[in-house]
Amino acid sequence: MNIHEMQKEILRMKKEQDVCILAHSYQTREITEIADFTGDSFALSVKASNVSNKTVIMCGVRFMAETVKLLSPEKTVFLSNPIAGCPMAEQMDKEMIVEFKRQNPDYIVVAYINTTTDLKTVCDVCVTSSSAVKIVSQLPEKNILFIPDCNLGSFVAKNVPDKNIRVMQGGCPVHASIKYSAVEQAKKLHPNALLLVHPECIPDVTAAADYVGSTSGIIDYAKNSEAMEFIIGTEIAIASQLAYECPEKRFYPLAKELICPNMKSTTLVDVYNIICGKGGEEITLDSDTMTKAKVCIDRMIELG
Ligand code: 13P
Ligand code: SF4
Repeated sequence: MNIHEMQKEILRMKKEQDVCILAHSYQTREITEIADFTGDSFALSVKASNVSNKTVIMCGVRFMAETVKLLSPEKTVFLSNPIAGCPMAEQMDKEMIVEFKRQNPDYIVVAYINTTTDLKTVCDVCVTSSSAVKIVSQLPEKNILFIPDCNLGSFVAKNVPDKNIRVMQGGCPVHASIKYSAVEQAKKLHPNALLLVHPECIPDVTAAADYVGSTSGIIDYAKNSEAMEFIIGTEIAIASQLAYECPEKRFYPLAKELICPNMKSTTLVDVYNIICGKGGEEITLDSDTMTKAKVCIDRMIELG
């Protein structure tokens, strides 16, 4: 079977079996082409909670599949490739946060959605990269521990100066590996291009950007901008997606290292196998964990 035949077969079987396929925007084109929805992690979970399909396949990383399950506990949710974790989401353990709270009772813990469900059970409110600044600025509490991404945390602190924000040393190994020298190099090569970056990049990189936002924020900004050239500071899939959708504009990845190996571990064959009843991993979370973790997601929805 070639790729095209496999895609056709997946589309036929998913209809027959009442399956909804979600693809994070960092997935390859062969996967986004067969997905019902493509987008950022939280938007995909919300979309899945609004469809009638009983089964959902998440092509992304583990915390994303867990978020789908949290918002749709009655659905059967599959992570298409069980090895696809997010190193940032798994960086901090629950006990460390519980101990921090014990020692700092005047602090609340704000968790980026890129965290495990287990960690969310001890956090107070969740944020996404697009809602972080808005949500933190609306919190009545002044003292905040922001986890796990110190770069997103610093970006929020810079934009919400009236809060007392502490961060811990955590972050995305893919985005955080991009040094300021990559910006200098890219700007030299493309002097007329605007620089659009994800807030998981280091502060020197975000400070040099014309726009800082989530994957969907970057996509919308580039599509709606009158500019014709853009340097894209997030996973290279976004630059290729934009090049495909806006052929009249030019998109340059900020660095060739901007590839998330976890996101790229999902293949079309993984999706095909799940539809054929083998492979993938069904996400199961115990009800106590789900109830506790949902509290900080519900608070995010309330404030967002
Ligand atoms: P978004 O929520 O912006 O899609 O980001 C997810 C992610 O993993 C960023 O690296
Ligand atoms: Fe996690 Fe970074 Fe990969 Fe996003 S790009 S899934 S934050 S490791």
